Amino acid sequence: MAESDFSAGFYSDDALAIVGGDGATVVDSEGKKYIDCVGGHGVANLGHGNKKIAAAVSAAWENFAFATARHPHPIREKFLAKLAEKMPFENPRFFLSNSGTESVEAAIKIARLATGRTKILAAKRAFHGRTLGALSATWRPEFREPFEPLVPDFDFFAFNKVDSLAEKIDDQTAAVILETVQGEGGIFVAEKEFLAGVRELCDQHGALLILDEVQSGICRTGKFCAFENFGGRPDIICMAKSLAGGYPLGATAFRGDLLADKNARGAHASTFGGSVPACAAGLAALEFCDEENLAEQAKEKGEFLKAEIEKIGSPKISEIRGIGLMLAIDFKVPAGEIVKKLEEEGVLVLPTGPKTIRLLPPIVITKEEMGEVVEKTNSVLK
Ligand SMILES: Cc1ncc(COP(=O)(O)O)c(C=O)c1O
Repeated sequence: MAESDFSAGFYSDDALAIVGGDGATVVDSEGKKYIDCVGGHGVANLGHGNKKIAAAVSAAWENFAFATARHPHPIREKFLAKLAEKMPFENPRFFLSNSGTESVEAAIKIARLATGRTKILAAKRAFHGRTLGALSATWRPEFREPFEPLVPDFDFFAFNKVDSLAEKIDDQTAAVILETVQGEGGIFVAEKEFLAGVRELCDQHGALLILDEVQSGICRTGKFCAFENFGGRPDIICMAKSLAGGYPLGATAFRGDLLADKNARGAHASTFGGSVPACAAGLAALEFCDEENLAEQAKEKGEFLKAEIEKIGSPKISEIRGIGLMLAIDFKVPAGEIVKKLEEEGVLVLPTGPKTIRLLPPIVITKEEMGEVVEKTNSVLK
């Protein structure tokens, strides 16, 4: 019996069996190595087999008592204090969970609780997760329709179009939720003026701005969070994926004053959220980001990789876009064939739509590895 004989059947069962990794390289069950530009969909920013994360988790586990985040712990306190330094608001508060979708669920609940309103506006092409609340803010009909009716009072506006939001937002709006770089939607970067316009509309109507940094955060775009590139001013921030170097951890950060006059006791909780090993991994991950200057690395390497792909100059490429190491290539030919050929050549990339691939390599990828990615892309396009 194979694993696929037991699984729910939600994933395609023709994917590679990946059994190990180191830095930006992964190894399949046959021992073949690949340069990984999938990066666990944005989980592997700090590299596969990261020794600092492994040491932090195992040290925390040695002495681990199963207690929920209701019980304070010095490792969690240190982690939160360090994460707070990276947040754009004073006196940030955090709810810790285990995944991106949970960080979004918490954001929606916090926004509803803080404003006493229910309406949430999300962008077309957005992806915020698969649980019913986050799914209600996710755009793709094939993800949503089998599960309708979803949570009421969600609606959509066009990304990068302030006028479209202006038509939808009103004094019943609790929050606008947005990825500043849309990831699953195909790597679309928010314009500075759009973000400023969104902020202004939120302020005019007393709505909160939730920025979902689950995929674009943790140094991937050249800043700790992507919104910092565009002067974004969120009230609530969702983080997960690489936040603990790949160990499951989600965080919803919010302005300290949002719930200050509310009785929020018991409003939300999670058994595993903010576990001590997860916070130990999170603390090690934040230290690694600072020690390795990971944000700057993503900026420089992203510029290099983008410029090298542009140099290929293939007529089969129609557009290269993105920021930092969050890039997409649009082709004039089906992406599936290119993904398959690159895999044969030892490079893993992520299809995102019929003619688009996404590159989200670990930020620790070397220049030589990026050179190889470009060379092999060039050769499969010939
Ligand atoms: C922007 C964004 N938000 C939320 C999620 C959901 O995260 P998770 O799969 O950890 O629930 C994702 C996952 O890809 C994402 O890209």
